[in-house]
Amino acid sequence: MKNSPVRNDVDELRGALERASFVVALTGAGISAESGVPTFRGSNGLWRNYSPEKLATPQAFAKDPRLVWEWYDWRRSIIHKAQPNPGHLALAELERRQNAARRDAAGHGFTLITQNVDGLHDRAGSRNTIKLHGDLWYVQCTGCGAVERNQEVPLPPDNLPPRCRCGALLRPAVVWFGEPLPSQAWERAVEASARAELFLVVGTSAVVYPAAGLAEVARQAGARLAILNPEPTPLDSAADWALRGPAGEILPRLL
Ligand code: OAD
Repeated sequence: MKNSPVRNDVDELRGALERASFVVALTGAGISAESGVPTFRGSNGLWRNYSPEKLATPQAFAKDPRLVWEWYDWRRSIIHKAQPNPGHLALAELERRQNAARRDAAGHGFTLITQNVDGLHDRAGSRNTIKLHGDLWYVQCTGCGAVERNQEVPLPPDNLPPRCRCGALLRPAVVWFGEPLPSQAWERAVEASARAELFLVVGTSAVVYPAAGLAEVARQAGARLAILNPEPTPLDSAADWALRGPAGEILPRLL
C-alpha cells in the first residue's frame, strides 16, 4: 500500500465520487451504531462482554446450541427494533445515483460489500449488496443444508435451538470464526474491489481478514481509498482520505 498525505476533506471526496464511474463501499458494524446496534470492538463492543469463542464458532454451537441461539435471538431482537440511519440511507441513494449516471454491462455503477449481518442495508434500499458474513435473518439446516428466511422475534423459548423439518438443528446463516466466507460472495467482492475507482471503507475496525484485505485489493488495482470512521484504523496511512466522524453524519454530506 502506498503512503500518501491523508486528507480530511468532504467536499473533495464528494467531487471524486461524482466523477468516479465505479464505486465500492465496504461497511462494518460502525455504520449500524447510530441505529442502536452494538459494534463488536471498542469500549461498548460485544466482544468486551461476550466471548466469541463461546458464541460465534462452530465448536461453540456443537457444545451448546441453545446458548448460541439465545445470543443470536437477543441480537435479532435489538436489530428488529432498529431502523436504518442516515448513513445506510445515503449509501442506498449513492447506489441509485451511480446506477442512473454510469453503469457497467451488468447495470451497476456501485457495489456495496458488507460484513454486517443485520439486514439494515436491505431495509434502507441498497440492492447490489454482497454480504460477506451472511445474514441474521436466514437460518440454515445443519443436516439437509436448506436455507430459509426466518424473521420470528423472539424465537419461541421452548423451540430453542430451532429445528428443521428434517429434524436436524438449524443454525443462523452467518459466518462464524474459523469458517470460510461464502465463496461466491468473496469472488464477487474481490472482482468489484479490483474494478473500483473509489473505495469507501465505512465503520469497520478493518482488523478482520479477509474482509479488510479488500481495501488492499482495490488500492493495488489503482482505486483511491477513503476511510470514514470516528476512530483511526490500520488502513488510514494508506488512504487518500480519512474522514473522522459518524457515518450517519458524513455519508449524507457526500451526496
Ligand atoms: P468492529 O466492532 O470491529 O468495528 C466497528 C468500527 O466502527 C470501529 O472502527 C468504530 O470506530 C467504528 N464506528 C463506531 N461508531 C461509528 C459510527 N457512528 N460511524 C462510523 N463508524 C463507527 O466491527 P467490524 O469491523 O464490522 O465478524 O468487525 C468485523 C467483524 O468482526 C464482524 O463482521 C464480526 C466481528 O467479529 C464475525 O462475526 C465473523
